[in-house]
Amino acid sequence: ARKVLFDTDPGCDDAVMLAAALGHAAIDVVGVTTVCGNTTVENTTHNARAILELGGYDVPVARGCARPLVDELATAEWIHGGGGIRGDLPYPSGNIGDEHAADVIVRQAREHGDDLTIAAVGPLTNLALALAKEPTLPEIVDDIYVMGGAALAGGNVTPVAEANFHNDPAAASRVVQDAHPRMVGLDVTNDATIPFERIESYEERGGVFETIAAWLRYPADAIDVDETGPSIHDAAVLADLVDPDTLDFADYYCEIDTSGGPSHGSVVCDQHGVYDEAPNTAVALDIDDARYREVVDEGLSAYAAR
Ligand code: BDR
Ligand code: CA
Repeated sequence: ARKVLFDTDPGCDDAVMLAAALGHAAIDVVGVTTVCGNTTVENTTHNARAILELGGYDVPVARGCARPLVDELATAEWIHGGGGIRGDLPYPSGNIGDEHAADVIVRQAREHGDDLTIAAVGPLTNLALALAKEPTLPEIVDDIYVMGGAALAGGNVTPVAEANFHNDPAAASRVVQDAHPRMVGLDVTNDATIPFERIESYEERGGVFETIAAWLRYPADAIDVDETGPSIHDAAVLADLVDPDTLDFADYYCEIDTSGGPSHGSVVCDQHGVYDEAPNTAVALDIDDARYREVVDEGLSAYAAR
């Protein structure tokens, strides 16, 4: 199985991704690090532990940054739910280690080397810190995936900026400059939808599936969701980790706007090569949505069946 360290801010779509990753036979979750984003880092850490305990998994969780590098944090409980998550979850009993998330990222990279993939699906604060501590991180590990940004699509928190990048543009900028990430942004995650019929079938099965259904339904109570169903952004990363044919990537030179102006936190993707700069980012531009849904269902079903 593919060893993956998840840096996350659960968050309902994070919860779906994490549960499906824990359940999926093709993925070995070697660690979970938490960051502020959808809610405070206290809440995201609590939620991460609760997701593990709901499924009966024991994976070390390390708490990370409580605020972005430069910007103020903008949380999103209004969409993800009070405490940053929806559904019935156990009150977690497990301990959180003293080691900071950024140190865990560096340590696990050194331990697992090119057997490890890092998947960051919240603001990139922890990953940027890890890069500052260990600039060779991208050469040490197999791959670095991030959910965030929008290269050619519009934004979701401003007309041009996506939430994770907008929360910490300085961190996103560092990661894009130095980590040669696979950027899984709104260009594909808007289409990473789960149909309402699937959500209803989970509701009918009850138990853990009911909690999963509440995560999947998350945006529908707060914003308009069309009949293709809610976009479960973070899970698009997992689908490609399991089956690399799920997403199509193209290499581009990208910069993150950290100007503080109206396009703050947005991605400037040089799709026509006008800057004459070497590509620094693999940008996801197409998703096999049927395959995506299959992988997510495989993982969630195994997680719920434990
Ligand atoms: C991203 O922002 C967060 O609200 C979600 O968890 C996801 O990581 C989508 O823009
Ligand atoms: Ca997230």
